Amino acid sequence: MILVTGGAGYIGAHAVLALLQNGHEVLVLDNLCNSSSASLERVTRLAGRRPQFVMGDVRSRPLLDKLFAAYPIDAVMHFAGLKAVGESVREPLRYFETNVSGSVTLCQAMAHAEVFTLVFSSSATVYGESETMPISESAALGLPTNPYGHSKLMAEHVMRSVAHSDPRWAIGLLRYFNPIGAHPSGLLGEAPKNIPNNLLPYLLQVALKQLPALRIYGDDYPTPDGTGIRDYLHVVDLAEGHLMALNRLRKQPGISTWNLGTGRGYSVLEVLKAFEKVVGKTMPVCVEPRRSGDIAQCWSDPSKAREELGWESKRDLNCMLEDAWRWQCLNPNGYGADAMAV
Ligand code: NAD
Ligand code: UFG
Repeated sequence: MILVTGGAGYIGAHAVLALLQNGHEVLVLDNLCNSSSASLERVTRLAGRRPQFVMGDVRSRPLLDKLFAAYPIDAVMHFAGLKAVGESVREPLRYFETNVSGSVTLCQAMAHAEVFTLVFSSSATVYGESETMPISESAALGLPTNPYGHSKLMAEHVMRSVAHSDPRWAIGLLRYFNPIGAHPSGLLGEAPKNIPNNLLPYLLQVALKQLPALRIYGDDYPTPDGTGIRDYLHVVDLAEGHLMALNRLRKQPGISTWNLGTGRGYSVLEVLKAFEKVVGKTMPVCVEPRRSGDIAQCWSDPSKAREELGWESKRDLNCMLEDAWRWQCLNPNGYGADAMAV
């Protein structure tokens, strides 16, 4: 059985579905601070099978000990964490407590239960402002520009030390680039509880007139059209990457790092243009100054994941945008009361 922390969230729910569809038994631990258990109802409908669910906190050692004693857990996927960059600047301690201390507590409970296989949600943010593109796993780790980024880097350091302390550990640090998109059924997707920070969720709400206009944060970057470039990745591809990492870790102990990205970057204006084509109308936009902490460009060299995991992204930008748009139209308020009936 796989313990999935944060399994009710955006990426976690897609991973739980992929695990169930591949025959795994799944136990989700989530405190629902940024999600709803409705996502797991949707997962159940899609998989034809229900994951076990415990509402609780990954920082609680007594709870973790109880779960490891009660269920035949043999590996963990650790998604539980806080991810809003701006909020992390205002509330750094909450971010370090959840993302760093939560990871420490989880590793302690795992060691106690002698469960040594762990897949961790890291982020391309650990590279900081990389000098060369594309970014490979051997690139120097950068200086994150906010507490969220620091918390991910610190959690990576914790896991690296833990892996070096005992050869039974098999830990995969998955450095995601920019996950977007939704399940093609329109049943699972990203459901921000507040005004979105990220480009695509914001754009989706502008398209439904839930927000007035997209603010383009800077058109004076040293990029071909002046707007920021990122490596957008379909969340279903990302979820599949987790399964392949898990398979590899079963054969290869130690600590491994894999970039999960497409290897291709798109600017804000390129995403906007592609999105307008999908939606069939132009979006209201305004150009604003650069957002503090943003970097000009960031895209992956995903060849290590291809060679070692046999993983590569299959879904292109158009597919990501179409799937995201379907999700948004069917669930304009996320998993809320007037979401599509399941
Ligand atoms: P999300 O907020 O949708 O999912 C995180 C889940 O963790 C939520 O369901 C939340 O309720 C749960 N959670 C938070 N704190 C918890 C705690 N203390 N105990 C138990 N559950 C808790 O976010 P997501 O986009 O699915 O991200 C999943 C992971 O991937 C996070 O660790 C995030 O930092 C990382 N990540 C995300 C992105 C991205 O752009 N979405 C990029 C890189 C890395
Ligand atoms: N952008 C806008 N307007 C918006 C939102 C974003 O112009 O309303 C621009 C940004 O300036 C950037 C690009 O769109 O150039 C992408 O921005 P996102 O906020 O969607 O993504 P980021 O690359 O800034 O950050 C994401 C995650 C972080 C993670 C980082 C690296 O939010 O958690 O990728 O993995 F750390």
